Amino acid sequence: MSTIDAESIKQEILAKVRDYFKQAHERKVFVPFQTKIPYAGRVFDAEEIVNLADAALEFWLTLGRFGQELERKLKTFFDARDALLVNSGSSANLLALGTLCSPHLDRHLKPGDEVITPAVTFPTTLAPIVQHQLIPVFVDSETGTYNVDPQQVADAISPSTRAIVVPHTLGNPCDLDALIALAKRHELWLVEDCCDALGSTFDGRHVGSFGDLATLSCYPAHQMTMGEGGAVIVNRQRFIRLARSIRDWGRDCWCAPGVSDTCGKRFGWQLGELPLGYDHKYIYSHLGYNLRPTDLQAAVGCAQFEKLDRFIEQRRRNFRRLREGLAILEEFLIFPSVHPKADPAWFGFPITLRNGTQRSALVQWLEAAKIETRMIFAGNILRQPAMAGVRHRVHGQLRVTDKVMTDGLFLGVYPGLSDAMIDFVVERVTGFFQASRVGRSAIVSAT
Ligand SMILES: Cc1ncc(COP(=O)(O)O)c(C=O)c1O
Repeated sequence: MSTIDAESIKQEILAKVRDYFKQAHERKVFVPFQTKIPYAGRVFDAEEIVNLADAALEFWLTLGRFGQELERKLKTFFDARDALLVNSGSSANLLALGTLCSPHLDRHLKPGDEVITPAVTFPTTLAPIVQHQLIPVFVDSETGTYNVDPQQVADAISPSTRAIVVPHTLGNPCDLDALIALAKRHELWLVEDCCDALGSTFDGRHVGSFGDLATLSCYPAHQMTMGEGGAVIVNRQRFIRLARSIRDWGRDCWCAPGVSDTCGKRFGWQLGELPLGYDHKYIYSHLGYNLRPTDLQAAVGCAQFEKLDRFIEQRRRNFRRLREGLAILEEFLIFPSVHPKADPAWFGFPITLRNGTQRSALVQWLEAAKIETRMIFAGNILRQPAMAGVRHRVHGQLRVTDKVMTDGLFLGVYPGLSDAMIDFVVERVTGFFQASRVGRSAIVSAT
């Protein structure tokens, strides 16, 4: 078959894919109490499936042209030194910590070094700290922002402290002025976990461009998806080769996929105790992993990236609609607060019930109306069964953390929610407090 034939068949298939999308994925009409209102989900049109089909027909499978394109887009977006695609946000955190532990890095982290991190966290933000035999030092978070309290971070610093690892909770940027100042003053590495925060800004700059390294998740719940996927954003030149090596089996060679001899001396190296001329492709300067996604995932990511600005705007809009709709419930709910320099690309709408006995009832009330909610990460991670026997230090009291665990939850704001869905969520949440005895009199007097 000639190339022209193959190309025209491909175009026919891709045109069919567009037709298929229209028939198979049309948006369904929202029916209150019957249609599920998810807390998050993938939002896509024909272009994601077209890209996926294109990558499937090409059948390159491993990271290729789509992967390179997406890495370029992310690098530009963050104005970063490099962006490495990985197969999840969890892998991104593993790679970020692995990079900081590289023996080829000056001031690399060593077993027993302390890493300050909030106790309100996601399990795989914490896990690589423990897996690298570092000691997590847990600090409390702030009421309303759900982010690490910078004063607690400052007070927790000891002679063994070497790094700070912080998630921007539910897309809400941490106080980066304070964290950067602390990191500079005490020579600490800073890792921003931006898995929930792609597109959020602080002082007009994207979060993820402040820390030494930052991580993204492209799981479907997030600002853009690759199905499974994520990325490490590298903001220091010296990390590039280290991070790429650890992601790619630990190899010393930095050739792009399908390329050989980028260094110009593939058979001229002598490293470690290897014989001179041992093929550079098979020299390992790290005990690494293979954390790469496939090019099919990257192909979906490329199409999603084109929609990112719109997705972020819709998330902000949905957030505002919820905030305005629920304003009357100030007496019952602690609403999210934001640093004056921050503009979150919200992952969710976090609330904490002031009255500490009603969360479970509210969650079930909403579930009965097919409205999904989620807990705020792992709550106080120290209370999770996985933490039994894990070496750590706690700085101060974790009062806010415990309140978040017992009384916090979040509602969805993702771009797949229509105004009618958001209004229904507002009506049901308000209805819950109206239905409760305390709530009814307060709402009546406020209206
Ligand atoms: C803050 C944070 N870090 C890391 C992750 C892990 O990302 P992934 O699910 O892609 O592994 C998540 C997941 O939602 C997250 O919220």
